[in-house]
Amino acid sequence: MMRILFVCLGNICRSPTAQVVFERVVEQAGLSDQITVDSAGTSACHAGETPDKRAIDAASHRGYRMSHIRSRQVRAEDFDRFDLVLAMDKANLQALLSCCPASSQYKVRLFLDYEGSVQAEVPDPYYGGKDGFETVLDLIEEASQALLSSLKPRLEGAA
Ligand code: 4NP
Repeated sequence: MMRILFVCLGNICRSPTAQVVFERVVEQAGLSDQITVDSAGTSACHAGETPDKRAIDAASHRGYRMSHIRSRQVRAEDFDRFDLVLAMDKANLQALLSCCPASSQYKVRLFLDYEGSVQAEVPDPYYGGKDGFETVLDLIEEASQALLSSLKPRLEGAA
């Protein structure tokens, strides 16, 4: 089993969106028995909360359900348990690297590294309008396809 953790600041906008989008990509590829997905925040300030209503609404227009997710902060054991820890932006990448043991630093990357685009970060939509949440979904949908393609060679039995 390969374990992927998506990480943003609050775990209420970007990373829960990445969790449900990537879960669907994995499911559509028939790989749900080989890849598990979770999300967390570098901050605990929304711990226990459901995702932001704007993120839930934007995702639901594209057929994703995410209201079952509850925000949680990244924990030390995440760096052991997960094979990849993917940050939405550079600030959260730095926050992760600063608390990640040296032996696991190779697991911590920017999510959009897989997309190969000029854009390095999934921008924080929290203080903006609805458009920001559409941009988040667009970037995450593209990067999820790219991430799955990059993982396939590492998966047993996947063509
Ligand atoms: P997220 O968005 O990191 O994508 O979940 C944010 C959520 C909350 C805050 C900032 C960004 N906040 O400042 O409370």
